[in-house]
Amino acid sequence: MTSNRRFAERVEKIDISGIRKLFEGAGPNAINMGLGQPDFDTPDHIKQAAIDAINDGFTGYTTGLGVPELRQALSEKFEQFNNFQVVPDDIIITSGASEALHIALLALVGPGDEVLVPDPGFVSYVALTDISGGRAIGVPLTDTFTLDAETVAEYITDKTRVLVVNSPSNPTGGVQTRDEIQGLCELANDHNITIISDEVYEHIIYEGEHVSPASISNNVVTINATSKTYAMTGWRLGYVAAPHDITEQMLKAHQYVQACANSIAQKAALAAITGPQECVAEMRESFMRRRDLLIKGLKDLGIECVEPKGAFYAFPKVDNSMEAVMKLLEAGVITAPGSAFGPRGEGHIRLSYATSDKDIVRALDIMGQVL
Ligand SMILES: Cc1ncc(COP(=O)(O)O)c(C=O)c1O
Repeated sequence: MTSNRRFAERVEKIDISGIRKLFEGAGPNAINMGLGQPDFDTPDHIKQAAIDAINDGFTGYTTGLGVPELRQALSEKFEQFNNFQVVPDDIIITSGASEALHIALLALVGPGDEVLVPDPGFVSYVALTDISGGRAIGVPLTDTFTLDAETVAEYITDKTRVLVVNSPSNPTGGVQTRDEIQGLCELANDHNITIISDEVYEHIIYEGEHVSPASISNNVVTINATSKTYAMTGWRLGYVAAPHDITEQMLKAHQYVQACANSIAQKAALAAITGPQECVAEMRESFMRRRDLLIKGLKDLGIECVEPKGAFYAFPKVDNSMEAVMKLLEAGVITAPGSAFGPRGEGHIRLSYATSDKDIVRALDIMGQVL
């Protein structure tokens, strides 16, 4: 159909997710190492809380900020686990970490403003900066796939408003050290730059420690979700904590775009955050076992790969991202091209090991034949 319809440039210029396009071309028996979600089901006690919420008729709008008990529980979680204090009224419950990122960027970034993002980094940072009217500037990573203050400093201009930090990282599995976080916080404070810290993989960490920038600096927007920690990607439940003046601005965007997060998912999240945490440790152990299996297999094949310290992705080197991904797809393994995560991701593919041991072994066998 032809049409002379005009569209807004802020959306028209965004590329449709390269990763999704690839799934569509895959056969039904393909091994899926392209997906960014745990292959586990949501734990039963969390599901039960949602069923109870429905049966209790908890089906109306909640306040815009979100259910008070959930924000209280998150305030305690931030203090105990992330080592910083935030009052429940400076926490907004969102529709996934995605919406939290969106409202943070809408609140902080305007036309011409620059947002420093890790390159390679999670695809939404660039797209949501574009939608906000700002300009994303990719910053190269260290050899261990982290951001360091010295390199970030080279990319700061008088237009820089935000620095996005994501540890553990999608797509590389890199984990920032405490010293690196300290350096980034000092640099950001010196230049009056707000850090947006995306911590959705905080519990999926095998080496090193998780350090929240908000435990060091107060000019930080902390973003998180139940999606990855509790195998709840489809529930669409995230949260964001920030200094009060930023929360006030984000809340306006949230109220008009979203009204409130899903009431039932909020009750499920309350059970997730306040309930037994063994499920989190069990999933982490499974991911770690699979990581070891995959990394050893890649090593045996002579494929170079930095050992991921967190999340559930490996980011091995290949000659040409797209060519490798297409060859693997034809042979029945779905992966993602490193170039989808920024120009500096070229020369890599992203493998998600949130899949069964059996599929990892099969995929390694195919990689040995194809790459
Ligand atoms: C680093 C990172 N941040 C945010 C998200 C989005 O999370 P949610 O599903 O809670 O919107 C993802 C999902 O893949 C991610 O990898």
